[in-house]
Amino acid sequence: MAKRIQIARPGGPEVLEYVDFEPAAPKAGEVRVKNHAVGLNFIDIYFRTGLYPVPSMPSGLGTEGAGVIEAVGEGVTHVKEGDRVAYAQGPLGSYSELHVLPAAKVIKLPEDIAFETAAAGMLKGLTVQYLLRQTFPLKGGETILFHAAAGGVGSIACQWAKALGVKVIGTVGSAEKAELAKKNGAWATINYREEDVVERVRELTDGAMVPVVYDSVGKDTWLTSLDCLAPRGLMVSFGNSSGAVEGVNVGILNQKGSLFLTRPSLNGYADTRERFEEMCLDLFDMLESGKVKIDIAQRFKLEEAAKAQESLASRQTTGSTILIP
Ligand SMILES: NC(=O)c1ccc[n+]([C@@H]2O[C@H](COP(=O)([O-])OP(=O)(O)OC[C@H]3O[C@@H](n4cnc5c(N)ncnc54)[C@H](OP(=O)(O)O)[C@@H]3O)[C@@H](O)[C@H]2O)c1
Repeated sequence: MAKRIQIARPGGPEVLEYVDFEPAAPKAGEVRVKNHAVGLNFIDIYFRTGLYPVPSMPSGLGTEGAGVIEAVGEGVTHVKEGDRVAYAQGPLGSYSELHVLPAAKVIKLPEDIAFETAAAGMLKGLTVQYLLRQTFPLKGGETILFHAAAGGVGSIACQWAKALGVKVIGTVGSAEKAELAKKNGAWATINYREEDVVERVRELTDGAMVPVVYDSVGKDTWLTSLDCLAPRGLMVSFGNSSGAVEGVNVGILNQKGSLFLTRPSLNGYADTRERFEEMCLDLFDMLESGKVKIDIAQRFKLEEAAKAQESLASRQTTGSTILIP
């Protein structure tokens, strides 16, 4: 027997139950990981509330963690029992002491990367990797707009972009978060509660506006983000923290300046073993060089997952949050 968090129906934080379960033996091509730390992500909230459907109920939750392989299924060759590993993609169920998943989804952890760092930084760090290096490959010298700059993904993005020689204008919801984003390398911040985002971007760019906006807030920032783009700029809509963007007439891209729009996901970029490994290597390089540091600003016990999710959803967190089984 082991402990995990599961949901039997979609809903608020109260549907998260801390239960005993019988961990499965890994089937062919699978591994079982004893989690030392588990990553908390906004996508876990989308699955809990039903914004994203889960395959079946009751369902485990969470897709990110780090720990030690304690059993391998038939045909698994690239990892073995006792290896330190991390993972960031499904199946759901990382909010757990033990998690069974395809071996292809785990990567061996370099000795100098701690379990907690990996659990806090894999999903968010790989996301920043594809956003800055693939979706809109930054060359250095650009000025970009990144929303939620003091959050988990945002804190990593500020550091990584700075290392690439890019000026980040980061939006934040408080003075404390502005300070944090600056500490992480943001060139400028905009507190959207007090300032007009479009006007500030215009001032900061001397009227040029930005070639790319990375927007994970969704519904609330959709129009603002389009208005911050230079002609033919790219709107990267990669999250729904305030709700999903719906009912879009694509003609708006024409009206706002022949804009481009993409709605990317980590699974869409790390879609082969080869690409997943390349992205992990890039992330591990950034961590080992010290150019990117993972700020674990909140730690909760696994059984406190509901409290942890409430903090994330209500904008009380900064940086990354982990659950400890
Ligand atoms: N597509 C992908 O591949 C991918 C992968 C990872 C994450 N994501 C997305 O990236 C975003 C960030 O994820 P994260 O886990 O690092 O979370 P996070 O950024 O640490 O937390 C969300 C932040 O968004 C801001 N926010 C603005 N409006 C909000 C609202 N109505 N409700 C809640 N938060 C609001 C808050 O910061 P302020 O107080 O500063 O406004 C809040 O702290 C999420 O939308 C997530 O879904 C997408």
